[in-house]
Amino acid sequence: MSAAADELRMRAAQRADLETLAVFEAGASATPWSPGQIADSLDRHQVLLVECAGQMLGYAVFRELLDEAELLHIVVAPQLRRQGIGRSLLRALRAALAPAVRCLHLEVRAGNAPAIALYQGEGFVPIGRRRGYYLAVDGREDALLLRLDLC
Ligand SMILES: CC(C)(COP(=O)(O)OP(=O)(O)OC[C@H]1O[C@@H](n2cnc3c(N)ncnc32)[C@H](O)[C@@H]1OP(=O)(O)O)[C@@H](O)C(=O)NCCC(=O)NCCS
Repeated sequence: MSAAADELRMRAAQRADLETLAVFEAGASATPWSPGQIADSLDRHQVLLVECAGQMLGYAVFRELLDEAELLHIVVAPQLRRQGIGRSLLRALRAALAPAVRCLHLEVRAGNAPAIALYQGEGFVPIGRRRGYYLAVDGREDALLLRLDLC
């Protein structure tokens, strides 16, 4: 399946989407969030889904705090990557932020080249690094801190 940008539908996820999200996550992430983490996100954060013809293609989790927002998670179905869906989702997320939000920040594994390329292509800039922040198969991996100014 492939999806043209004009066929994508973005919508806020609801509690009823939990099972679909959990199944999607288990098949799409190298380090999947647990169903409990996803349920917690649905309760406490904002979850944006991208769909095509009723099928989930990806989703993003973010939270807003006063004039800042944080992207906590973004995943696209493995078989649909590199078709612009992640970029569309990120742009839709950005458009969904409250007007008061002045910057969007995130953490990403230093070795996650696809995600870093996506973020930098959308204007995020590096603002820091946390050494050994993530567990990795062969030890630990740094986190890069990125920020997008929205002003
Ligand atoms: C990161 C992720 C969400 C990107 O989604 P995607 O739909 O494949 O990304 P897009 O097709 O919108 O790519 C947009 C741009 O990002 C960059 N990019 C994306 N994937 C890339 C790759 N594998 N290699 C190099 N650049 C890549 C490119 O600049 C691309 O633009 P281009 O195709 O016009 O050159 C996806 O790879 C994913 O779900 N990864 C697993 C979960 C993950 O790591 N999430 C991030 C956690 S911080």
